Amino acid sequence: MPIEIAKPKPAPALEQNSSDPAFLKIRDLVYRISGIYHAEEKLYLLTSRCARRMVALELTSPAEYLEHLTVRGNRDAELRLLLNEITIGETYMFRHPAQLDALRKVILPEILQAKGVHGLKRLRFWCAGCSTGEEPHTLAMFLLEEKEKLLAGWTFDILATDLNDNSLEAARAGIYGEYALRSTNDRLRAKYFKDAGDKKLQANDLLKSQIRFDRINLRDDNKMLFQKGMDVIFCCNVLIYFDLASKRRVIQHFYSNLMPGGYLFLGHAESLFQVDDTFRLVHFTGTTAYWKAPATLPAGGKK
Ligand SMILES: C[S@@+](CC[C@H](N)C(=O)[O-])C[C@H]1O[C@@H](n2cnc3c(N)ncnc32)[C@H](O)[C@@H]1O
Repeated sequence: MPIEIAKPKPAPALEQNSSDPAFLKIRDLVYRISGIYHAEEKLYLLTSRCARRMVALELTSPAEYLEHLTVRGNRDAELRLLLNEITIGETYMFRHPAQLDALRKVILPEILQAKGVHGLKRLRFWCAGCSTGEEPHTLAMFLLEEKEKLLAGWTFDILATDLNDNSLEAARAGIYGEYALRSTNDRLRAKYFKDAGDKKLQANDLLKSQIRFDRINLRDDNKMLFQKGMDVIFCCNVLIYFDLASKRRVIQHFYSNLMPGGYLFLGHAESLFQVDDTFRLVHFTGTTAYWKAPATLPAGGKK
């Protein structure tokens, strides 16, 4: 499932009318800042999230809340708090095993060979829209497991980013319950986690040290320009609520941030059909990925 732009708990005391012009302006503001677009039929989800912030601020009208988001001194902070309410990410460990198979069997051997020629024995991965960290922790376990095999003599780093401060805080803590760990086997649990009480496990220091978490809004062009040199980017179940223009912009950034020969993974239900034609679609068993062909390769399909 992509970003859950809601499943609101019973809305706070305020009854909100989704068609209030102030909500439409807030919808546009959220879209402009984050790329997340609430179509008419989803507007009630936005209003319910705004209602929570209005209760916290003791405001009674959407117009007042719009003012908080636009003209008050702390508007950036308030917008950030609203985005934290809106972007709640559904995720779990080992959500996309076919992607890991593709990495092990095809993608990494290919990249290692190309980079190895130049003596560059370092790999860079980016989980963009990592939510509470299950995806980068999965990747870190996978890469650590390959350290004595495929990746012998290589180092790697994982950048994991999201715009939701609360999700990032949880990701940094690395404490997970059975729901998040349901596809993680006992051997990996014992090797990379420690008991955190309350039937929860916490990522151990070795696992945590593989990942650098940062807040990056995918619609922030300034920050997106500075994430160069990636070998593989995962942006799974994030762009599905973006409109076409926002998707295009983000995908262009991913393209320029990837090394030639690098790969982009999206979620299973997502595709770049009619979004982008610079990447090449590559099929693997059970999954697909988008490949940035090296400049020397003639136009046409992959190999
Ligand atoms: C459904 S989760 C995906 C988690 C993980 N990638 C997976 O597939 O399991 C979507 C995440 O995208 C994040 N997100 C939404 N809009 C974003 C934006 N403009 N910039 C960065 N992250 C964003 C949300 O905060 C949320 O954590």
